[in-house]
Amino acid sequence: MVKQILQMKNFDQKIITNSYKETEELGKLLSQSFKAGDVVCLYGELGSGKTTFTKGVARGLGVKNRIISPTFILMRRYSLNAKDQRLTPIDSVSKIKNLYHIDLYRLESQDIKGLDLEEIMQDKSGVVLIEWPEKIKDFLPGKRWEISFKILDENLRKILIEKL
Ligand SMILES: Nc1ncnc2c1ncn2[C@@H]1O[C@H](COP(=O)(O)OP(=O)(O)OP(=O)(O)O)[C@@H](O)[C@H]1O
Ligand SMILES: [Mg+2]
Repeated sequence: MVKQILQMKNFDQKIITNSYKETEELGKLLSQSFKAGDVVCLYGELGSGKTTFTKGVARGLGVKNRIISPTFILMRRYSLNAKDQRLTPIDSVSKIKNLYHIDLYRLESQDIKGLDLEEIMQDKSGVVLIEWPEKIKDFLPGKRWEISFKILDENLRKILIEKL
């Protein structure tokens, strides 16, 4: 289901997922459209699926480590081996060397400097996924992905994908 929609190559769209597995699958599939240097903003209330989606992205990019929510440390970096990226032999994906997973839920404004966020977002070989990006809205690059998660029901999520 998810796959068919993404094959339309029209990124501005709404998708309904019926389980956490489908949201992971969406992340895995969409990861193949991410390019080194991309910033991906993940909006949505607590428990709406942002970390679940990130797990799928990590899987799709070839991250072997378990993805744990970076809530208390705000940021985790996973480095990627080209040899692990064999989901599809897409050149653009093999140029991605780092995946950054940032969760700003607990960010206090005075902590922003300590995170080197601007440096991370300028890593041209990285893909940066940010939960609670509204906390740093003035620092976000104009060119970015915006993915919004909405809880419809216990297992139902509405996910809106936009590419700015
Ligand atoms: N369709 C679905 N997509 C994603 N998660 C789902 C879905 N249905 C149920 N869930 C459940 O909802 C929860 C989503 O949690 P997740 O950690 O991904 O949320 P989050 O948006 O990252 O929240 P937080 O802001 O607290 O970090 C999980 O327990 C997952 O199993
Ligand atoms: Mg989360």
